[in-house]
Amino acid sequence: MAKTGIFYGPEKGSVDRVAHMVAKEFGEGNVDLISVKGKDPKLMENYDKIIIGVSTLGMSNWNSEVGENDWDTFSSGLDKVNLQGKDVAVVSLGDQVTYPEHFVDALGWMYDKLKPLGANMVGFVDAEGYEFEDSEGFRDGKFLGLPVDEDTEPERTEERVSSWVKMLKNDFGF
Ligand SMILES: Cc1cc2nc3c(=O)[nH]c(=O)nc-3n(C[C@H](O)[C@H](O)[C@H](O)COP(=O)(O)O)c2cc1C
Repeated sequence: MAKTGIFYGPEKGSVDRVAHMVAKEFGEGNVDLISVKGKDPKLMENYDKIIIGVSTLGMSNWNSEVGENDWDTFSSGLDKVNLQGKDVAVVSLGDQVTYPEHFVDALGWMYDKLKPLGANMVGFVDAEGYEFEDSEGFRDGKFLGLPVDEDTEPERTEERVSSWVKMLKNDFGF
């Protein structure tokens, strides 16, 4: 079976919880869960199939010089990583009520970082069921990964994760 890794951050919040849900859906022992905190992004090269778990924390926050978050630090070493031939899917936490014009922008930021490294980006989903105005993570009629809104629609998370993982198992050839 292809080696699959879930790279997620930050720890202890909604992303952490959802990353564990994704792992559970894949089944015990089928995936490695890796918190990106303090890790070398080269680690990604050990995996054939990669899932990224990230929260959207606003562009100004993402790009800020001060208060670097775990993904800022991890991402700064990404340009040395070769993802040629690897399937990569992204799940982003977000809040469609408070940030309707930037809902899960991180799906787009991640796509733009990972695609140039050779990644075959998979796991895109329809907008059906979401209420938002704009998103950098929405292109050509699809989200570039799975949006999860634990802030305003936590009751839908389990079902969203479960049907996404079903789709990924197919994309990943499980
Ligand atoms: C400072 C801040 C900025 C945020 N900006 C966005 C945003 O631009 N778009 C969005 O969809 N959600 C945004 N959110 C919502 C978070 O993505 C959401 O609360 C997420 O579940 C946090 O996950 P975490 O606890 O794992 O960090 C923001 C939250 C905070 C606190």
